[in-house]
Amino acid sequence: MTLSRHDAGSAPTRRDVLRLAGIGVVGVAGAQGCSLLTGTPQPQLLTSAAALPTPYAVPLPVPEVAKPVRSAGGVDYYELTERAAHAELLPGLRTPIWGYGGTFPGPTIRARSGRRTAVKLINQLGEPTVLHLHGGHTPPESDGYPTDLVAPGASREYVFPLEQRAATLWYHDHRMDYTGPQVWRGLAGMFLVGDAEEAALPLPAGERDLPLLICDRSFAADGTMMYPALEGRPGVREAYMGGVLGDVILVNGAPWPELRVARARYRLRLCNASNARAYELATGGPMIQIASDGGLLVAPRTVRRIRLAPGERAEVVVDFAAHRVGQHVELRNLAGEGAQARVMRFAVERDAADDSAVPGRLSTVEALDPARATVTRDFEFSSGNMHGGVGWLINGRPFDAGRMEARPRLGDIEVWRLTSDVAHPVHVHLDQFQVLSVNGERPQGPPEWKDTVELRDAQTVEIVTRFTDYRGRYVLHCHNLEHEDMAMMAAFEVV
Ligand code: C2O
Ligand code: CU
Ligand code: CU
Repeated sequence: MTLSRHDAGSAPTRRDVLRLAGIGVVGVAGAQGCSLLTGTPQPQLLTSAAALPTPYAVPLPVPEVAKPVRSAGGVDYYELTERAAHAELLPGLRTPIWGYGGTFPGPTIRARSGRRTAVKLINQLGEPTVLHLHGGHTPPESDGYPTDLVAPGASREYVFPLEQRAATLWYHDHRMDYTGPQVWRGLAGMFLVGDAEEAALPLPAGERDLPLLICDRSFAADGTMMYPALEGRPGVREAYMGGVLGDVILVNGAPWPELRVARARYRLRLCNASNARAYELATGGPMIQIASDGGLLVAPRTVRRIRLAPGERAEVVVDFAAHRVGQHVELRNLAGEGAQARVMRFAVERDAADDSAVPGRLSTVEALDPARATVTRDFEFSSGNMHGGVGWLINGRPFDAGRMEARPRLGDIEVWRLTSDVAHPVHVHLDQFQVLSVNGERPQGPPEWKDTVELRDAQTVEIVTRFTDYRGRYVLHCHNLEHEDMAMMAAFEVV
């Protein structure tokens, strides 16, 4: 039985209790993996049939940086071909994957703020796909609306103006009802936006600026990725409707890899690309957080752990000069048990010159003032009945691509109040937002830009939003991909 994680000091309000009582037990067989409080399903571990690989036995791969096929008129043109391929993810086994460019993760795109990046997506898979740049400030026709399908054999050009600050973004599939299985098969990659302000900082660079795309997967005995899909319809088997957890932790597609490092500072761009697993990453020593989803923080902050829900990113600088040659530094997951408490390992193998530094001031972040909000909206994330089965709903309704849940006005500041039954990482497209409060408490420190915020069990999180530059249809949704596929998504139209 998984206990609902109820932190002291976050007791549900009367309103929460009434709301949760109203939901009741949602008809999931047995109480296994349900929240005690609500009977609502929690993410479930899918156990591999393949023998789990030995930790720290394979080197960390670093995905190739994509090269534009051409650059003209201030636009960089890329091509990403989605195709089926095989990859040796577990030593000695061949795993069928779907990959951008046939690789998992896909190539890393390094782009510049304010420089248009056009990506031609070529779908050579047997299923429709949709490309989404997560964290991108993107016009609606290129944002990957979940029903804007690219059919098998077809292609589509997505244009990203990137009028936004430097940040670690990622791209992934966004096909309505099938994002979970399609990302699980490998359709994800990193997308790094740089700008002049960031380039002027003496942060670790080159091979010491590392994208780390972290996700979990489970494998059948022959190396095939397992996924508890239903026959002929979207969603997963009932036991997994809370979300699918893999038992092998992959970093850049390699199981519990090792990286040999110099005694120097490294910038780690952490991205949680898992379907449903949240991590609490720790090295056993201090890490200096310099950025979150929306780019640089105002000032660095020393942390001992970083919690990342699905979809979230954080950047930290770790100084391996604090260790001797021959020592190992494990990146662990304090939210996991057994093998899933491990992520990767750094082997300190040499001395090196290091002229990098983390300045005391990194950037400026404009605080969005909630007192200037023109409207407050409520979004309730909960399970409930839909079409006779159980699904995940926003404000009691399943996703309907044609129905707008909200019509925010371009340029207006709004307060959005998000509430949860069980944990839901909530992601909003088009613009980054700021967190105002979590169960009534203000976060510490200066504001930061986020595009995904984790609601824990029975929480209320208030965010302040402002949509700029583009009118049109976008979505917000839970980034637990099984919840998303089972309808926990809503459309809004910026007017
Ligand atoms: Cu990372 Cu709408 O998704
Ligand atoms: Cu997104
Ligand atoms: Cu959810």
